[in-house]
Amino acid sequence: MTTVLPMSGRIAAFPFPFPEDRYRYSTNVEPAARPNVTAAGQWGAAVVEIDDDYRAELAERAEILAADPTRHAVLPHMRPAAWDALLTLMRELATAYPGQMSLEQLGGDEWRWRNELLGECRDFRYGDEASLGQEPLAYITSQVQEDIALLDQRNDQLYVDAGVVTFAADWSFGFDVGMSFLEIHGPVPRVRKEGVITRAHDFLKRLQPHQPYRRTNWTMTIGRRLDVSTERYPDWGPDREMIRCVPDDEFGRLVHLRVEVQHLIRLPDSGALMFLIRTYMLPLEELATVEPWRARAAKVFAELPDDMADYKGIIKYRDRAAQWLAAAGESVVPEAVVTEPVTPSPGLPEWPAMPPEVDVSGASFLIVSIGQEPRTAHAARTWVRTAESAGPTRLLVLDSLTTAADAASLRQTYNELRTGSRILVTGSQYNVMTALAWAYDAGAISAELTAFVTDLSDLPMYCAHCRDTHRVIGAPGGVVECPGCARRVEIHAHHAPRLGSFLASAAGEEASS
Ligand code: HEM
Repeated sequence: MTTVLPMSGRIAAFPFPFPEDRYRYSTNVEPAARPNVTAAGQWGAAVVEIDDDYRAELAERAEILAADPTRHAVLPHMRPAAWDALLTLMRELATAYPGQMSLEQLGGDEWRWRNELLGECRDFRYGDEASLGQEPLAYITSQVQEDIALLDQRNDQLYVDAGVVTFAADWSFGFDVGMSFLEIHGPVPRVRKEGVITRAHDFLKRLQPHQPYRRTNWTMTIGRRLDVSTERYPDWGPDREMIRCVPDDEFGRLVHLRVEVQHLIRLPDSGALMFLIRTYMLPLEELATVEPWRARAAKVFAELPDDMADYKGIIKYRDRAAQWLAAAGESVVPEAVVTEPVTPSPGLPEWPAMPPEVDVSGASFLIVSIGQEPRTAHAARTWVRTAESAGPTRLLVLDSLTTAADAASLRQTYNELRTGSRILVTGSQYNVMTALAWAYDAGAISAELTAFVTDLSDLPMYCAHCRDTHRVIGAPGGVVECPGCARRVEIHAHHAPRLGSFLASAAGEEASS
C-alpha cells in the first residue's frame, strides 16, 4: 500500500507517537515549539495549536464543565499561577496566530485580548477576576483546545493543585487534585522500578522559564470520544466489550489511536509548572493510509506487554487492532505477543510489617489507637512507653472514625496540637488512612506522621460517581456496592494519601447496565 497525497489536515497534523517498533515507558521529553516532521506532514511548530476542531472542542468542554464542576479546581494558593498561565497562553496564541489573535498591554495591569476566531475582544486587569468575568484558568481553557494542570513546587515535590481537565484519558482530575506528582503516577505499571517517574520528577523540578518541553503519550479510544474520564466510565466502558463483536470495517472506523501532546512549561512570574494536554485521535482506517504508520503501529500493538495493555484499557482489543492493521497492508502478521512478568501494582500504600519506631525528636506526642484489634492496643502501648520518656504524651483511644463522636474527638484533638508534635496512628486501614488525611487537613506534614495498620480488610473508598468517601470492606481490584449510590464499583489500586481514600468507579457489568 502506498501513501496517497494530499493528506487530510487531520492526518497531516497527527502526532504519530512511535519512534520504534516496540514501545516502553520512558522519560521521553524534548524541547518544544519546533516542527516534528512525520511520514504524513508535521506537528508541534507552536506550543499551542489550533485546528478544524477548535470550536467543536471548546463547545464540548463548556458542556462538560457546566455538567460537572469537579473538572475545574484552583486551590487558593494557585490563584497567582492561574493568572500567570492565562497571560503565558495568550502570548503563545498571539505569537502563533497573529492574524486572528492579539494581546495588547494598555498600561500598567490593564490588557486587551482579541480572538477573532471566537469574536472575542476583552479588556481586563491582571489579577482582577471581576474584570475578566471568570476565574482565569476557566477563561483561558475557553480559548485553547488543551486541558491544563498547574503544579506547585514546594518541599522538593510537585503537587497538582489546579487545573481544568475535561478530556482525561481514563483518570479523574477531581480525585487527583492536591496529590503529588509521584502519588498521581502510583497506578502506572513498571515506572517506579524503572525510575521513569523519579527521573521525570527531577527533570521537571529543574525546568526553567522560557524553555518549554514536550512529550507524547498514547492509548486507544473507541469512537471519537474526548471525555473518557473515570466519571463517565458508565458511558464508554461497555464499548471495550462491544468492539469485539463488530465487523472489520466498523472496527477500523471506530478504533482510534489517541495521542496526547503534553507540554511542560515553567511559568515566569509564579514559578508554578504548567502541564498542557492536547488530545488528537485518528481512526485506524485513516492511520492505515500512511504505510509506515500502519506497519509500525501493527508491530507496537502486537508486542506491547500485557500489563501495559491492561493499564491502558486496551487489552481486550489490541490484538485485533494489530491484526486489522497487519491485514490492511502487505506486511507479515506480527509475531506473537511477548509477555513479561507482571510487577505488583505500585498504587497501593506501603504499610510497615511492624510498628515503626517513635521519632523521639518530637516536642510532644499524640498516639491514636482506633478499634478493638489486640495488635492495635499493643502497638499503641509500645509507642506510649517510648514517647513518655521523650516528651509530653497523650493517648487517644477510639472505636471507629465512622462514628460522629469519635470523628469529632479526633479532629478536636488535632486542632489543639502544637507545632513539632508527632502523631502516631494505629488501627484498621480505613481508620488509619482517614486519621492521616485529617492530620494533613489540620496542617501536619508527612515527617510528623507515623502509621501502623493492623487490619487490611477495610478501606476508605472515594466513589467517582457519587463523589463521596465511604468505608467499605474490600481490597483494591475488588468489586463492592457503593454505600453512597448503590452502584457496583471496582476499587482501583490508586490511593490519595492526603484525601485518605482509594479511587473507585463503575465495575464492568454496572457500566453496561
Ligand atoms: C516528563 C513528565 C511525565 C512523564 C514521563 C509521565 C509519564 C507517565 C506515564 C508513562 C503514564 C502512563 C501512561 C499510559 O500508559 O497511558 C502517565 C500517566 C499519567 N500521568 Fe504522567 N508523566 C509526566 C508528567 C505528568 C504531569 C506533569 C502530570 C500532571 C497532571 C501527569 C499526570 C498523569 C496522570 C493523571 C496519569 C494517569 C494516571 C492514572 O492512571 O490515574 N503526568 N504519566
